[in-house]
Amino acid sequence: MMARPGIEEIRAAVATACGAPSLHNSQPWRWRMAGECLHLHVDTARAVPVADPLGRQMVISCGTALHHLEVAVTRYGVDAVTELLPDPADPMHLASITFAPLSAQRVAASEAKSAAMRRAIELRRTDRRPFGPPPPEGVRGLGAGVAERFAVSLTLLGADAQPRMVEAARCTAAVRRYDPAYHAELYWWAGHKPSAEGIPDTALPMEGAVPVGREFPIGSLAAASAGPDEAALAVIGTDADTRLDWLRSGEALSHVLLAATARGLATCPVTHLTEVAASRRIVGDAAAAGGGRLTFPQVVVRLGAGRGGALPSTRRRPIAEVWEG
Ligand SMILES: Cc1cc2nc3c(=O)[nH]c(=O)nc-3n(C[C@H](O)[C@H](O)[C@H](O)COP(=O)(O)O)c2cc1C
Repeated sequence: MMARPGIEEIRAAVATACGAPSLHNSQPWRWRMAGECLHLHVDTARAVPVADPLGRQMVISCGTALHHLEVAVTRYGVDAVTELLPDPADPMHLASITFAPLSAQRVAASEAKSAAMRRAIELRRTDRRPFGPPPPEGVRGLGAGVAERFAVSLTLLGADAQPRMVEAARCTAAVRRYDPAYHAELYWWAGHKPSAEGIPDTALPMEGAVPVGREFPIGSLAAASAGPDEAALAVIGTDADTRLDWLRSGEALSHVLLAATARGLATCPVTHLTEVAASRRIVGDAAAAGGGRLTFPQVVVRLGAGRGGALPSTRRRPIAEVWEG
């Protein structure tokens, strides 16, 4: 256990945190070390403005990286002490983070759990292929503590909600069908040879699209074994729609993805369902019917038994491009 991690440890933890998921692998984060404080900023140059005009998912993406960092530093026996939106004059300054040693008692109590979450950072992939249904113990209690920790709700939808979610996906696709700006942006980010940003063709299925999934360019990922998608769907939602809600939704998304990965589940965020007002309303209604007290659905997550075997990791930008210290 360390009293306080040094700059090299913090830089290594940031590099790990950059393995977090982001909309179209845009990685819209910038990390800056000042004295003993690490700061997280939005990098607005990495916006995806047609799909995400308000920058809502840009902030959610940074929230996933922030939570990944919190998990990564447990390796040094320290807690990240985080202040969210520390500068009211600068909405792009998302968090200030200092580090405090964990008590020996807390280290012992939570090390196994922390180690499993750290391992999940390495194992997690966005899997866009059809899933088998998750085993009941895979999703039971997955959202435990999420409301208290992140002030969001996680609603697991029943199988009866599936047709409505497919309807929401169709609604989004219909709205976008003749939107050249959306398609130009999507093709800019997705479907090329692997590079340090965007979604490579190797992560996009060549066939067997999932009905609730986003319509992407055809890729080179071989289809999983035959069978319809039987993923469970979970909705992360908030009572309001502020930057703070977006940031906390991102942290919660990371928590859910890592916890599910640690349980051996395959995962995929699907956010085209919350990008178009009419689709977002359908998702909100489905979540409310499922018991969620959700006014603003932020992200839907597919969870299930992976059928297609391990996926290669999607690349990230070099740490030097996102770190200043
Ligand atoms: C806010 C957010 C929105 C996302 N939306 C989608 C989506 O609609 N469809 C999808 O297949 N993946 C989605 N993803 C997953 C990203 O495409 C993925 O994280 C990125 O390509 C990096 O790949 P990896 O998660 O396998 O590391 C989203 C991720 C985040 C954080």
